[in-house]
Amino acid sequence: MDRLKATDRIVILTGAGISKESGLDTFRDTDGIWAQYDLEDVATPQGFARNPALVLDFYNARRSGLLDPAVQPNAAHAALARLEREWPGEVLLVTQNIDDLHERGGSTNLIHMHGELMKARCLDTGRAIDWREDITTDTPSPMTGRPGRLRPHVVWFGEMPLEMDRIYTALAECSLFLSIGTSGTVYPAAGFVQEASLHGAYAVELNMEPSAGHTLFDEAICGQATKLVPAFVDRLLALAAM
Ligand code: APR
Repeated sequence: MDRLKATDRIVILTGAGISKESGLDTFRDTDGIWAQYDLEDVATPQGFARNPALVLDFYNARRSGLLDPAVQPNAAHAALARLEREWPGEVLLVTQNIDDLHERGGSTNLIHMHGELMKARCLDTGRAIDWREDITTDTPSPMTGRPGRLRPHVVWFGEMPLEMDRIYTALAECSLFLSIGTSGTVYPAAGFVQEASLHGAYAVELNMEPSAGHTLFDEAICGQATKLVPAFVDRLLALAAM
């Protein structure tokens, strides 16, 4: 990593682990969301077709959880925003998270590859708009006025993640790939480390425990995101200052 130049590009992938210390549950930890719900029921197009009210309620609960004033960006979100501001080269943040803590923490060059909880999408027009209220099977779409035609703007299992062309171009061009707070079990995100490494990037993982693909990284550092990420950003910005 010492060979990194200040003008080099950095791509960062984040997952639920970065928001855990802000009070949001991860998916696959023992107390995670998929221990409480069956993902086939609440996170697939088939589940939505079978029981839209159940799916809408699941995301209504998560949206109101995110709107809880106690849920705020933490030191890891803030450190990534600082890196974007102070690193001379481009920093692209790709998040699997549907929460808005990265943008509230100050990041602007950001792709939500799995969508955004604070948006709703019209099933008829495909348009997504900012949305903070509950959605029910009676909620009229603001685009068409038709009830029952709004869904959360989130990517479910079996659907194509967003902005994949832009992400793969950035992975091919980056010199550092950083993966933070993700178990590395869900593709295509889990394959990003191989894609970046194939094109010559140095790859670093910061996670509470070794992820499924930790051996694919040049460095894998274990610990809490709020501790590891600020320290790693300091290390990078010290390199840029050399
Ligand atoms: N700091 C760093 N890492 C942490 C912390 C923390 N405070 N707390 C938990 N972690 C780690 C866990 O050890 C785990 O490896 O974060 C990881 C979270 O993994 P998952 O729960 O699988 O979340 P994620 O990888 O984001 O899931 C990917 O799966 O269900 C889908 O669409 C959903 O975007 C999500 C995708």
